[in-house]
Amino acid sequence: MAVRSVSDLDVKGKRVLIRVDFNVPLDEHGSITDDARIRAALPTIQHVMGKGGRVILMSHLGRPKKPDKKLSLIPVARRLSELLGTSVNMAPDCVGEKVKSMVDALAPGEVLLLENLRFHPEEEKNDEGFAKELAALCDVYVNDAFATAHRAHASTAGLCPYVKETAAGFLMEKEVKYITRVLTDPARPFAAILGGAKVSDKLEIVENLLEKADKILVGGGMAFTFVKALGQDVGRSLVEEDLVGKAREIMEKAKARKVKFYLPVDCVCGPDPKTAGQALVRTIQEMPSDLMGLDIGPATAKLFSEALDGCRTIVWNGPMGVFEVKDYALGTMSVAKAVASSPGLTIVGGGDTDAALHASGLSDKVSFVSTAGGAFLEMLGGRVLPGVEALEK
Ligand code: 3PG
Repeated sequence: MAVRSVSDLDVKGKRVLIRVDFNVPLDEHGSITDDARIRAALPTIQHVMGKGGRVILMSHLGRPKKPDKKLSLIPVARRLSELLGTSVNMAPDCVGEKVKSMVDALAPGEVLLLENLRFHPEEEKNDEGFAKELAALCDVYVNDAFATAHRAHASTAGLCPYVKETAAGFLMEKEVKYITRVLTDPARPFAAILGGAKVSDKLEIVENLLEKADKILVGGGMAFTFVKALGQDVGRSLVEEDLVGKAREIMEKAKARKVKFYLPVDCVCGPDPKTAGQALVRTIQEMPSDLMGLDIGPATAKLFSEALDGCRTIVWNGPMGVFEVKDYALGTMSVAKAVASSPGLTIVGGGDTDAALHASGLSDKVSFVSTAGGAFLEMLGGRVLPGVEALEK
């Protein structure tokens, strides 16, 4: 990454504004159900605290268009206090006079969390005036929010020109380093496993990885558009009709480039994801016309794990089926096992995939689990992320 690291900065006594991604899942009572993103930001926060910086944290939570009590960052401040073992001050807003005075009152090593950035629509509009207001709160800006780096917002990109010193945080560096390594210099064979419901969400990735990977394994709902492109009946499975031609083109490209392209050979079918106890395993050729494919079948699970055996780089995004439902979870769990048992570099990313890996209990067996969803997909798809680009500039 061609940007300065937070470890290169002298932050002593300075006001250090750190953009983190504390967009964590909350239950109906407003309690945090997964604090992985808060934990992932700790190394940068603790580093700046330890070096005597005055820490100001900012994040979005959810997608509010105006102030919304249910999306306040107060529960995050509480959790962060527990994790840091020190009290975290909570600001009533992210800009304004009161916030300025709270920042001025911060002592070296103390932490202040600003309220949800998206309570101001100017954040997502990347409004210049708003970006300047944020920039005025600090001497140094650190971006550690890789998971939001695909957004060109005031706090991720817009404020950079108005801050004297900018740097990447440790999480940002780590995420970019792993994904860059996969895209530019992967140990081979390099396999990419793609799943999830829709091909349309993954087109850019498949196309970009066709240029880089040795093997592409496709499961999940998106596989049926490819199966259909081979002229196969897929019953009531999810198919994006308008992309059948594109799917065919992708498979032809894979063939021309000698990229091994794997599709399911069997699947677990059912009437719908919600009806339990009616799952049937069928080969792709024998898919009942009134059922839909909801997971890869056991023969595919075996095929995929054999294809991954011996790979020195594996990237996985997207579950193989509706893993949240017991009847349709086995395929995703078997891929999780195959990835976790690989001695190569293994990288997993995307919200659902992280959740599936977590459910398998194997998270600590992979080389790197990205905290990002959209940003992970966009970077793997070959896009330049505005949050990273702003730091480079
Ligand atoms: C994410 O969860 O992917 C990031 O926090 C970005 O959130 P957004 O999709 O609401 O911009």
